[in-house]
Amino acid sequence: MNHAISVESKVIFLTGAFGLIGREVSRSLLEHGAKVILADVNLKALPAVHDQLAAVFPEDAFLATELDITDEESIAQCLERIAGKFGRIDVLINNAAIDAKFDKHNQGSVNVSRFENYPVELLQKSIEVNLTGTVRITQAVCRQMLKQGSGNIINVASTYSLVAPNQQLYDYGAGEEIRYKPVDYIATKSFIPNFTRYIATFYAKEGIRCNAIVPHGIYNDHEDKFLRNFSKYSPLGRMCDRSELNGPFIFLASDASSYMTGSVMVVDGGWTAW
Ligand SMILES: NC(=O)c1ccc[n+]([C@@H]2O[C@H](COP(=O)([O-])OP(=O)(O)OC[C@H]3O[C@@H](n4cnc5c(N)ncnc54)[C@H](O)[C@@H]3O)[C@@H](O)[C@H]2O)c1
Repeated sequence: MNHAISVESKVIFLTGAFGLIGREVSRSLLEHGAKVILADVNLKALPAVHDQLAAVFPEDAFLATELDITDEESIAQCLERIAGKFGRIDVLINNAAIDAKFDKHNQGSVNVSRFENYPVELLQKSIEVNLTGTVRITQAVCRQMLKQGSGNIINVASTYSLVAPNQQLYDYGAGEEIRYKPVDYIATKSFIPNFTRYIATFYAKEGIRCNAIVPHGIYNDHEDKFLRNFSKYSPLGRMCDRSELNGPFIFLASDASSYMTGSVMVVDGGWTAW
């Protein structure tokens, strides 16, 4: 058995690939010789994602394509495109999710309500994508992996899959209104570690591995007041540079992690350690 930390020639299907983590990890996987399918619902971003990659990598190394993980028809069409171009899927990275973010680019998505005033309709939307959507795409890809007799699934969790948000992170003092991390993300991301264990044990004898990765606090042009709070509560005292996730993803996608299944790999600068 070859246990090298290598993704050379592996066909890796990454959902939510046009976002912050997806773009970075896809580029890194391509640099390490993988064939990468970048799939996302955000069609506006598709031409730029395609053109940026095409400037560096050959067209036969990647496929940037449309996918809505909440829509069975969209999933089926995406899998047909993958089958047509690559014929198989070695690794699925379940990265697509919706989240209320606190960086400068996403202020509009933040719901400021306290829990008792939280609009429950938002919970449904989050369940549709982060939970049901993840199940739908995983089912479809498992059918393909069963035909192949092998497969590797990496679910992207969050520290909020493991612990509650420290709401003080969003309290900037000086009379500024506190914004709260809403319950929808916590509810739906908490599902990921146990879903990982479910899939891992369900398919362990059929050649499919499944592990989760737990990122936390990827820097994306956050405001100074947020960074000040973050460094106070983070053992490493800083946010994660997006490139610091590349090694963990490559490791889990490679055969170096062949004896790992059902595990949850925490990459959080120590956030959940105290
Ligand atoms: N950024 C962080 O600090 C952080 C921390 C912990 C965990 N995570 C997790 O990492 C993953 C990626 O996060 P990100 O920061 O890159 O977020 P992002 O919002 O930048 O990217 C998410 C992508 O998912 C896509 N998407 C949303 N709904 C979809 C659907 N129905 N079908 C297909 N694609 C869909 C979006 O269009 C977007 O491009 C998420 O699972 C998130 O929960 C992120």
